[in-house]
Amino acid sequence: MAKNRLLIPLLAIMTAGYLRAEGPTGSEGSGWEASRKLAEELAKRQPEINYFEEKVPKYTLPDPLLMSNGHRVGDARTWQTKRRAEILELFLANVYGRAPVGRPQIMTFEVFELDRKALGGIATRKQVTVYFTENKEGPSMDILIYLPNAAKAAVPTMLILNFGGNHAIHADPSIKLSKSWMRGGDKGAGDNRATEQSRGRDYSSYPVEKILKRGYGLATIYYGDLDPDFADGFKNGVHAVFDKSADGSRPGDAWGSIGAWAWGLSRAMDYFETDSDIDCNRIVVLGHSRLGKTALWAGAQDERFAMVVSNDSGCGGAALSRRQFGETVERINKSFPHWFCENFKKYNGREDDLPVDQHMLIALIAPRPVYVASADEDLWADPRGEFLACKNAAGVYRLLDVNQPGRPRLPAGRFDVETLEMPGLNQPIQQGKIGYHIRSGSHALTEYDWERYMDFADLHLSSRGKNF
Ligand code: GCU
Repeated sequence: MAKNRLLIPLLAIMTAGYLRAEGPTGSEGSGWEASRKLAEELAKRQPEINYFEEKVPKYTLPDPLLMSNGHRVGDARTWQTKRRAEILELFLANVYGRAPVGRPQIMTFEVFELDRKALGGIATRKQVTVYFTENKEGPSMDILIYLPNAAKAAVPTMLILNFGGNHAIHADPSIKLSKSWMRGGDKGAGDNRATEQSRGRDYSSYPVEKILKRGYGLATIYYGDLDPDFADGFKNGVHAVFDKSADGSRPGDAWGSIGAWAWGLSRAMDYFETDSDIDCNRIVVLGHSRLGKTALWAGAQDERFAMVVSNDSGCGGAALSRRQFGETVERINKSFPHWFCENFKKYNGREDDLPVDQHMLIALIAPRPVYVASADEDLWADPRGEFLACKNAAGVYRLLDVNQPGRPRLPAGRFDVETLEMPGLNQPIQQGKIGYHIRSGSHALTEYDWERYMDFADLHLSSRGKNF
């Protein structure tokens, strides 16, 4: 497993809520359990946060297959034409807020760099600026793309937002150094800007060569290009351009930062549709932590994404809010008031009143493959809550699998997350349309995680045609 270099510079600052403790970790073998010792240590440091299974309140999840009019969804068509839209609307109105619909009228793509002999000849590297308006001063985003030269046709590609600037994912000196606002900036720069110091710093979370070797492309965007990650009343990034109320007020369902980052992922998809080197029918959108929340939201809304991956996304991502285990709705809204829409704050301490829970976000991705991953020591993100969200989305997957013409029934003996208990450490569930693993270690995106995602993509996307 790669060393988590991303952890060192970033997580100390960004994951203020994540606490780690030394000691034995959760059990190998059947059925993961959180380490008691770890939970106790965390609880001592954060007495207001629940780290114990026995303290999870009793809760009832909203039924994804029960329509608002009380009717039960019994077929794929009713799901697709009615219930899916209802649930999407609930998330728009109450959780993430509404982004502008569709692609901006004046949006242009500029491939500003292209090298067909990158990384010693194994890759094609492209760098593309997406201008959202006619104003070249911004806002805009840069997509860095690596494609394997061994590919014989358009390449299935992993799309991921990054935390530290495109130049931080690989030491390749040709990657444009980000000019965007950067949390803390690089040491010594002191001005929230990146310097050459951070080139390649986060490589362990983006194993580019290994991804290319498996036949996938990698496309990445610095999330701060879309919206710098701090609460500024939405004065910068894409909000500044696309929020248009005469008096400057923002409705309770206006998009927050997660909404803006997810919107950017769809704009990258707009670009892929124009690039014949990329297989736009096989784009996997993935993300870690806050960007895992973002990947789920992007995949839930935009059905062009063929597969969605959430790595340690936790509260507001894959974890069930009603469990109030680890980070809670109130806590996330207080620490990160800009991430969700204003209406989400109404549910601080009132999770049971939410008309949705996060299993319904996963259900919105059905019938496309989705993979959720947790980490043993990452109790802040509630691994069990992430697994249970998958489990409670499985009914929708089953309905769509069974009912869609041409879609094969589940082969006998295949894992089906709906009938499973939580697996042990490092025992991935990959056969069904919902993948899940809990790996040993802490909150991070590691090579182990990437390998599982590519295994899962091999399994579930190859029917869309293998080109390499
Ligand atoms: C914080 C936050 C999490 C988030 C994480 C991250 O710890 O509480 O919700 O997932 O940061 O994005 O790193």
